[in-house]
Amino acid sequence: MFGQNKNNVTEADILAALGTVQEPELHQDLVSLGMVKDIQIRNNNISFKIELTTPACPLQARIEEESIAAIREQVPGAETVEIQFTHRVRGDGRITGKLNLPIKNIMAIASGKGGVGKSTVSVNLAVSLAMDGATVGLLDADIYGPNIPMMMGVTDAPPVQQGKLVPAEAHGVRFMSVGFLLPADQALIWRGPMLHKAIQQLFVDVRWGELDYLIVDLPPGTGDAQLSLCQIAPLTGGVIVTMPQMVSVADALRGASAFQQLDVSILGVVENMSGEIFGSGGGAAAAKKIGADFLGRIDLDPNVRIGGDSGAPIVVSHPDSPTAQAFRILARVVAGRVSILNMTPRMELTAA
Ligand SMILES: Nc1ncnc2c1ncn2[C@@H]1O[C@H](COP(=O)(O)OP(=O)(O)OP(=O)(O)O)[C@@H](O)[C@H]1O
Ligand SMILES: [Mg+2]
Repeated sequence: MFGQNKNNVTEADILAALGTVQEPELHQDLVSLGMVKDIQIRNNNISFKIELTTPACPLQARIEEESIAAIREQVPGAETVEIQFTHRVRGDGRITGKLNLPIKNIMAIASGKGGVGKSTVSVNLAVSLAMDGATVGLLDADIYGPNIPMMMGVTDAPPVQQGKLVPAEAHGVRFMSVGFLLPADQALIWRGPMLHKAIQQLFVDVRWGELDYLIVDLPPGTGDAQLSLCQIAPLTGGVIVTMPQMVSVADALRGASAFQQLDVSILGVVENMSGEIFGSGGGAAAAKKIGADFLGRIDLDPNVRIGGDSGAPIVVSHPDSPTAQAFRILARVVAGRVSILNMTPRMELTAA
């Protein structure tokens, strides 16, 4: 009896041990970050929850290993250790504050030039985040060529319910396209105010519901759509897509500087269509020039195009392929960057 008491594990012992484990990306310990929940101790068998800042956590295995090691080393009486992972995506509250929508984070996908794979990256990112367990929306703001409906495999305009558009849904992602607001095959010359209104409608007239992440696919270039989007919705960050050739570095820089002028944080640069044909290296070079992170590389792979054309993104159609895996990892890297941004105090936006 006496000896048993001496080795009785307490909640304080566990918190002290986990207080020495760093969240590898956020660079603070798990306890200070408020990630340790629901500690239970029975006969020195320990269980608790770790609440990640994203279900798409790139480093969950490492956090688990280090937590167990810390308890083994620092809590002598500990018998078994069981960790359950949960998640609560954090946002900075600006989107809810400004638009009164329960959307935690908005990430815009942009490039200085057309045809580099923005829509492809948007779709596969959104579906990957949903596959990891996040609640995800995808907004197609490409006024020149809205092709998200085709890539997601749902081209019928969604119904209106009580004055609001119900987003289409495919592959676990809610999505809405500027194309749904137009009669089919009708080419339109968008003038500034009309464009602004359409983008606004895609936020406030759509029943998005609660979202951890809303991915916005932008038209190519650095024009009115970016400006309107930034005026309407506080963006958590922008992702720049570029191709591997060195000539595309200049385009990436243009895409990035548009965000910088609008006070939007740059989450990083993705190199798409890497491989023998276009080479590789442009993405990393662009990231370096911009002073942003290089987020990863997606190979040129015919199954990416086939998936896009058939409405089954490669992460769904060929989930085990190296290219699909590269998209899955990319999504976790982006989610990790978003978590970091949300832990960092942000400068107030100057634009009204
Ligand atoms: N990694 C890849 N491998 C093979 N094909 C790809 C890859 N990424 C994109 N594609 C194909 O390249 C074409 C252009 O891609 P996508 O439409 O995503 O580019 P975009 O930047 O959105 O273009 P736009 O500027 O016209 O909106 C599509 O046919 C797409 O399927
Ligand atoms: Mg596109």
